[in-house]
Amino acid sequence: TPRVFSGIQPSGNLHLGNYLGALKRFVDWQAKDIETIYCMVDLHAITVWQDPADLKKSTRELCAGFIAAGIDPEESILINQSQVPEHAQLAWIFNCVARMGWMQRMTQWKDKAGKNQQNASLGLFAYPALMAADILVYHATHVPVGEDQKQHLELTRDIAIKFNHDFGVDFFPETEPVIEGAATRVMSLRDGSKKMSKSDPSDASRINLTDDADAIAKKIRKAKTDPDALPSEVEGLEGRPEARNLVNIYAALNEQTVEQVLADAGGRQFSEFKPMLADLAVSKLAPISTEMARLMQNQDEIDKILSRGSQRAREITAPILRKTYDIVGMVPPV
Ligand code: TYM
Repeated sequence: TPRVFSGIQPSGNLHLGNYLGALKRFVDWQAKDIETIYCMVDLHAITVWQDPADLKKSTRELCAGFIAAGIDPEESILINQSQVPEHAQLAWIFNCVARMGWMQRMTQWKDKAGKNQQNASLGLFAYPALMAADILVYHATHVPVGEDQKQHLELTRDIAIKFNHDFGVDFFPETEPVIEGAATRVMSLRDGSKKMSKSDPSDASRINLTDDADAIAKKIRKAKTDPDALPSEVEGLEGRPEARNLVNIYAALNEQTVEQVLADAGGRQFSEFKPMLADLAVSKLAPISTEMARLMQNQDEIDKILSRGSQRAREITAPILRKTYDIVGMVPPV
């Protein structure tokens, strides 16, 4: 049976890339009447330094973001990773299955560790093994993510295959990455060659889900573009990363294809297209930020949702971990 799992790090600055590449897709899966499990991956977040008070706030804010974006905590299972201990327990087993060389090849490791790898945390290096555990501790079959997570999902398959092979079992499924839509890689509004990211020092580079209508409109007005009009065919976006990015964002927000957007907007100057995009973005995103702010007023309710979801999750994860321990050869408690 199909089962969907995905996660987002509670490391602040939830942005338009997270929304279009992940959150909005999560809502689509929820509507399909398939079991959906969505996770605030706080254990992943601490692979780089997080101020403890900020981490708590970001985790609650992320949960509010899920709900404001349309995730129903009754229909989907919303969890906090650290409250479902089987994630970290299975990750240890996977640390012993995965190879150092596999981890070393991860581009996210190379990017995040930077030049001084010796000084990066061991957790940052092992990050993908914990991610594989997140997914496989549910035997999840589908994982909707943005393009930047593709390599991690390939590694998840490699871990499942090696585990099954080493122990001579057919236990962990091979998971399908689901990378779809017009905005699987939303770029910075200031530089079309850089991914929109939580950690970009320039706030103008991204639209945060907590931005109000004025901030959203202003950032789009100031977004970097080139001087030409929009083309009416997709090929015309070749070599125009900023133009392509704004068109992709428009298409994803309006649930259209890029072709449809260009059929409409082709020939227009950015002076005309940007206000169209700003209006669309404000109409789709401002209600989310308003709802997030409202939900954040009631922290107890958010904590209850995460706690209840995490308990529901353990009904799935505990038996799978028990079986894994048995396969590996651990003597169970009596
Ligand atoms: P994170 O927290 O960096 O990002 C969360 C989701 O948002 C997507 N995303 C983007 N999509 C399009 N354009 C962008 N500019 C952009 N930036 C981010 C990401 O692809 C992701 O889907 N390792 C994961 C979290 C994780 C996870 C998992 C995901 C942990 N365990 C298990 C899936 C399954 C991460 O750091 O995502």
